[in-house]
Amino acid sequence: MASGNEIRKAFLDYFARHQHTIVPSSPLVPANDPTLLFTNAGMVQFKNVFTGMEKRPYTQATTSQKCVRAGGKHNDLDNVGYTARHHTFFEMLGNFSFGDYFKERAIELAWNLVHKEFGLSKDRLWVTVYHEDEEALALWKQIAGLPEDRIVKIATSDNFWAMGDTGPCGPCSEIFFDHGPKIAGGPPGSPDADGDRYIEIWNLVFMQYEQRGPGDRVPLPRPSIDTGMGLERIAAVLQGRHDNYDTDLLRKLIEASAQATGVDPDGPQAVSHRVIADHLRASSFLIADGVLPSNEGRGYVLRRIMRRGMRHAHMLGAREPLMHRLVPALTEMMGPTYQELVRAEPLIRQTLELEETRFKETLERGLKLLDEEMGRIGTDAPLPGEVAFKLYDTFGFPIDLTQDVLRGRGRTVDTAGFEAAMQRQKAEARKAWAGSGEQATEAVWFEIREEAGATEFLGYETDTAEGRVVAIVKGGQRVDEAKAGEDALIVLGQTPFYAESGGQTGDAGTMSAPGVKVTVSDAQKKAGELHVHVSHIDQGTVRVGDALALAIDPARRDCIRANHSATHLLHAALRRRLGGHVTQKGSLVGADGFRFDFSHPTPLSDADLRTVVDEVNAQVRINTPVETRLMTPEKAIEAGAMALFGEKYGDEVRVLAMGRDLTDDGGAKPYSVELCGGTHVRRTGDIGAFTVLGQSAVAAGVRRIEAATGAGALQHFAREHEVLQQITRSFNAPAEEVPGRIAALLDERRKLEREVSELRVKLATGGGGGGAAPAAREVNGVRFATRKLDGVPAKDLRGLADAVKGEIGSGVVAIVSVSEGKAALVVAVSDDLTGKVSAVDLVRAGSAALGGKGGGGRPDFAQAGGPDGDKAEEALAAIEQAIGQRAAA
Ligand code: SER
Repeated sequence: MASGNEIRKAFLDYFARHQHTIVPSSPLVPANDPTLLFTNAGMVQFKNVFTGMEKRPYTQATTSQKCVRAGGKHNDLDNVGYTARHHTFFEMLGNFSFGDYFKERAIELAWNLVHKEFGLSKDRLWVTVYHEDEEALALWKQIAGLPEDRIVKIATSDNFWAMGDTGPCGPCSEIFFDHGPKIAGGPPGSPDADGDRYIEIWNLVFMQYEQRGPGDRVPLPRPSIDTGMGLERIAAVLQGRHDNYDTDLLRKLIEASAQATGVDPDGPQAVSHRVIADHLRASSFLIADGVLPSNEGRGYVLRRIMRRGMRHAHMLGAREPLMHRLVPALTEMMGPTYQELVRAEPLIRQTLELEETRFKETLERGLKLLDEEMGRIGTDAPLPGEVAFKLYDTFGFPIDLTQDVLRGRGRTVDTAGFEAAMQRQKAEARKAWAGSGEQATEAVWFEIREEAGATEFLGYETDTAEGRVVAIVKGGQRVDEAKAGEDALIVLGQTPFYAESGGQTGDAGTMSAPGVKVTVSDAQKKAGELHVHVSHIDQGTVRVGDALALAIDPARRDCIRANHSATHLLHAALRRRLGGHVTQKGSLVGADGFRFDFSHPTPLSDADLRTVVDEVNAQVRINTPVETRLMTPEKAIEAGAMALFGEKYGDEVRVLAMGRDLTDDGGAKPYSVELCGGTHVRRTGDIGAFTVLGQSAVAAGVRRIEAATGAGALQHFAREHEVLQQITRSFNAPAEEVPGRIAALLDERRKLEREVSELRVKLATGGGGGGAAPAAREVNGVRFATRKLDGVPAKDLRGLADAVKGEIGSGVVAIVSVSEGKAALVVAVSDDLTGKVSAVDLVRAGSAALGGKGGGGRPDFAQAGGPDGDKAEEALAAIEQAIGQRAAA
């Protein structure tokens, strides 16, 4: 008997043999469709290929696609567990033709697979066709040789497939398997068709149209094929089972649940095991694709699925969280096909455990309240909406969980009353924020947040996605559209653009639609949870409600990722080298590099820096995977996480672990663990290289390191290398000798400068020898020697003044030198006269004449300067006059 894994493989191999390209499953969060909550069919990833908007290098493809049908148009959540064939998560096997083959070949391929390869007997197979599709009917007769009474014409939408309200669609033809007379039910189209005997196993859609809106249906450029076969259903048939939950795909999980709880898998509580098996699959795959539990959107659908599973675990008597313990059974079976499950296993387990731990705190009390209320209202009345709302608001019971509990008792909920209570609460929240000061200036964002909900960030998993415009803001006002040439702030329901937070800069990129081009220069976070795209409309008009293709600049984001991950490694390296007092004080992570501020009192020595850089690069080279987990802040800190930066998910935080503690013997401890909502590399090796560009002080006790990674670091090395080459060329010496050469040069230069200075003095004082002193005159009994020079630098004047002073013995020396039109002035006074005349006073008198502002020094020597070099004589005269006044005094 073939296992589920073997059947999946047989299907893909069969189509590969028939020239189909095996394409991997796309993620459960559809990147290319803002109208869909989750990928709900194999064709979703090919939507734009069918409509001709996107080209792929193949025209025939085959996939095994992960699907979730919960919370959207195709919602199976309520029935899961109670029926043989409903799932929230399932795999859809399919083959696709993009304008290549059409009906005939599709029917032929399908028939040969089920009949010849899978060996299903002709007697057990039925098909349906859309009532107007005579062509399909004729083909089934001709290719399969089926008698006419086994080809049923169906007039309803059952045989006209549409992905959603818009998108590619077309008539379809379904293959049914007859599970035999021991099961009740009639063939398709008969009054008993709802019975379980005849089961649809494969749907062949003849994609011919594109639904663009209500009543607006256009033909596709070329007719195409989209088929979907539920793996669980075909596995049931091929494994001789009637119930999908009896196939190995689900049975293994049911058994794991039975083993963990000690409750008979097939006893009266079988439903609970089935719910757990299904919900475990859906939750794990959703988490692996980047969805995390929250109170809105996709995250809330996940939370509902998780909590529904967790209530059933509770019913099975599980005292401790159960679902996370079943993850290994799932990854063992499906991990080889879906690697993302293996990659995300720690995140999946911790997210499940955390959710179940928290939900357990209120589950029992909520159930008690529910019991009391049901007892109180007695009779058959539905549970009042107010009570359902209290269960939701206080005890975390999603409405469908309450319904699920009541279903077991044949009771219902007043859902309208529940909605009304919900609206009342929202209105009150609105009043609360509308009144407060700071928030009032940002009121427009809170209003949008309130109406549209938080922006869903898809950028942990994808660089491109489609999003629907929920609001446009121009000049602080909400508007309906923005036109070419205008700047606007645009909010979408979902986006891959990271909005600046936690030190990481916002993404840049583009948004587009046919005839519309928008440049996004930045993304900012508003009202806590809105990603606001700072946009310029290059072409066309963007309107609220439009769907836009969003693409971040991936190269830029890669650099940002590398830089952000490097800040974590740097932080850890600094703590190891400098001590536990080092904590992050701020950071700015951009595309070209990053800066990291941290508490530390003194500059880092060269040796410290070298060690830190080496350690970070060692972590880069060991190239370990970067792991993300979800925890409560307390748990995260317990696990050694540092500093709370970045995003929060309610009371849960993302925890990033990277690198390996090389001092740890087992080598299992990560090098760095931090709380962070930013985007990071997949493996430390993606950082490429790390280098420090500089360090500085930003405030008392806070140092800053500027650094670069990857291409930025290599550019830095290249620049430094170029400079070094120029230097070695100039010295014509190998690099190692250059520092010695430079030191010798500087030494020599200092010596020469001294010599030059001495020579200048000699020259100015008459070329050496005695009698060089300038003629000194007497001013009121004080000898006054002056000198007017050209081009002698200010720093050489002192030596000269001293020399002249030495020659005249007692007296005052004033020397002015003019270079480039400006004057430098020094005054020296012999020690016996400093009581009478101060060099400082005299130099100030001279400097005033030169247009200068003061000057300074000591009573025996002072210097000054001034812009008016042509007033040198006046300056000397002013000094002479000042001596006269003071000497006379
Ligand atoms: N899109 C069709 C379905 O989901 C066939 O793949 O049934």
